[in-house]
Amino acid sequence: MDIETQKRAAGEAAIEFVEDGMIVGVGTGSTVKHFIDALAKIRQRIDGAVSSSEQSSTLLREIGIPVLDPNAVGQIPLYVDGADECDPHRCLIKGGGAALTREKILAALAKKFVCIVDAHKCVDVLGKFPLPVEVIPMARSHVAREIERRGGTPVWRQGCVTDNGNWILDVHGLRIVDPVTLESEWNQITGVVTVGLFAHRPADVVLVGDGRRF
Ligand code: A5P
Repeated sequence: MDIETQKRAAGEAAIEFVEDGMIVGVGTGSTVKHFIDALAKIRQRIDGAVSSSEQSSTLLREIGIPVLDPNAVGQIPLYVDGADECDPHRCLIKGGGAALTREKILAALAKKFVCIVDAHKCVDVLGKFPLPVEVIPMARSHVAREIERRGGTPVWRQGCVTDNGNWILDVHGLRIVDPVTLESEWNQITGVVTVGLFAHRPADVVLVGDGRRF
């Protein structure tokens, strides 16, 4: 099965978790786009959505789903999002689309976090995909030096400004055997807004486009 077919299959499979009257958390990316397409067919059944990016908010509004302020909704029952890498413990690397901070906020609000991926995203150890780190612009060089000291090779994603007005460093050369510790430690570097590791709050369910789920 090709990657695009797998992305569509995973996005459509997540619809089974949507219940009547829900406010649904919606992530960002090409896999989520398929989830939004599927959501369009049942839009009357849900009360609205909260979204992790301006890009997804626009798509949701286009299909007539109200996009709500996360501050106004409290906990959300369901959050559906893609990932860049996923390990067997459902820990994730996210942020390839630069939406990692808002994604982490929605994951924190969510009772159930359903992650939708194609099979090539599933790895034994995270780190082959460069780890995105959102930084306050004036701290970019400082954070880069701190990351180098910890063994990573940061590359500034030039031209990319996040929805929060910040910048992204993509960190190459990692083999993340203890994602919980790395997430904690790197989040402590002054100037880091968010590390794109979802280990303290991993996905609850991963739906793979080849039919597997774990
Ligand atoms: C967005 O910032 C990312 O976390 C996405 O969830 C991730 O990049 C997956 O994107 P695709 O579904 O387009 O592969």
